[in-house]
Amino acid sequence: MRNLDELLAEGVSGRRVLVRADLNVPFVKDSPGTIADDGRIRAVLPTITALRDAGASVIVMSHLGRPKGEPDPKYTLAPVATRFAELLGSPVAFAEDTVGPSAQAAVAALAPGGVVLLENLRFNAGETSKDEAARGAFADQLAAFADVYVDDAFGAVHRKHASVYDVPARLPHYAGGLVRREVEVLKRLTEDAATPYAVVLGGSKVSDKLAVIEALLGRADKLLIGGGMCFTFLKAQGHEVGASLLQEEMLDTCRDLLARAGDRIVLPVDVVVADKFAADAQTDTVAATAIPAGWLGLDIGPESVALFADALSGAKTVFWNGPMGVFELAPFANGTRGVAEAITKVDGFTVVGGGDSAAAVRALGIDEAAFGHISTGGGASLEYLEGKKLPGLEALEK
Ligand code: 3PG
Ligand code: MG
Repeated sequence: MRNLDELLAEGVSGRRVLVRADLNVPFVKDSPGTIADDGRIRAVLPTITALRDAGASVIVMSHLGRPKGEPDPKYTLAPVATRFAELLGSPVAFAEDTVGPSAQAAVAALAPGGVVLLENLRFNAGETSKDEAARGAFADQLAAFADVYVDDAFGAVHRKHASVYDVPARLPHYAGGLVRREVEVLKRLTEDAATPYAVVLGGSKVSDKLAVIEALLGRADKLLIGGGMCFTFLKAQGHEVGASLLQEEMLDTCRDLLARAGDRIVLPVDVVVADKFAADAQTDTVAATAIPAGWLGLDIGPESVALFADALSGAKTVFWNGPMGVFELAPFANGTRGVAEAITKVDGFTVVGGGDSAAAVRALGIDEAAFGHISTGGGASLEYLEGKKLPGLEALEK
C-alpha cells in the first residue's frame, strides 16, 4: 500500500488530488447544522495541509449521514465546509453538488494550493449502490476530477462504496496519514497486543458487537460490557431489566457467550435507572439484579465503574468502543466519564475506537492526549478487529 509520504516524495505540485475524507460529524440533537464534535475534520487536516503546501490542488469528498441517494438539505456538507475552512485557516470552496455543474466549475477554478469540498457523496445513488456498474459510473465522474486519489477516510474503509472502493481502481492511489496511523494501531492490537488485554464495550446493540465479541473472546483477558447492550446480557443471566433496552432475539447468543467466557466477561453490578429517557427524568441507582419494573437503565452505576476500573488497572493493552450510558444527558454521563478516566490511568497502550466513544471523550472534557490513540472509525475499527477484509483497504493494496 503506497502512502502519502511516497506521494509527496514523487511530487504533487500542480497535480489535482482527490481526497476521500470522513467528515461525517455528529450534529447537536434537534439542531442540524450545528456541529457537536469536529474531531473528524481535525483528523484529516494534516493530510490536506501537506498536499496544499506541496502545491497540489485538493478536491475533498465525504459522506454525511445516510441520505437516500438524492439531495436532502438535512444532510448538506455546507456547515462542515465552513468549519473546515476555519480549522484549515484558509478558504474552502464548496460545491453545491457532487459531480454536477457546481462541482465541475469549482474544480476548474481550483488553483495550486486551493481546496474544494464536494457536496455529500450520498446525494448520488451510485455512491452506495450494490450494482458495480452504477457505482462504476459514479466513480468515473469523480475520478475525472483528478490525477491522484488519497484515501484518508478511515471511518469509511469498511464500506464498499464508489468513493472508497471504485475510485482507487481508476486513479493512482495512496493511503493518507490518518488511514496509515489507524491501520498501524489496529495491526498492533491484532498481532502484537501486550497482555493483560482488556476490552471495554458499550453502545446499544449486542448484534452490532457480536462478531467483535466472538473475535476478542479468544484474545482478550477481560471483556467489560456496559452501555445499552449490557441489559440483554443481564436478562440472559435471569435478571429483570424493566423497560431497559433489550434485544430478545439475542438472549440465547448472550447465554452462550457468557457460558463460554466464564469470568472473562464482566457485567455492571449497579445501574442508574430513570422513569423516562430525558435529562429531567427521575433517577435512582439500583443493583443490576434489581431494576424495577417500568424503569430503564441509562448508565452504569458507581460500583460498576469501580469494578471496571479495578479490572483495567493492571492492563497493558486496552481497547474501548462504545459509551457506557447516555453520556449526552448529564445525569447519565458518569459511567462513561468514570470508565474513560480509568482508561487514562492505565500504564499501557490504550485505544479509543469509534466515532461515539471519541466524541464522548471530547464532550466530557477528558484529556485526549492521555490515550494512546483515538480512532476516527467505529464500525471500521470493529470490523478490522473482527478480522474482516475492509474494501477500502483492499482497494488501496491493489
Ligand atoms: C461512521 O460514522 O460510522 C462512518 O462515517 C461510516 O458511516 P456509515 O455507517 O453511515 O457508513
Ligand atoms: Mg456509524
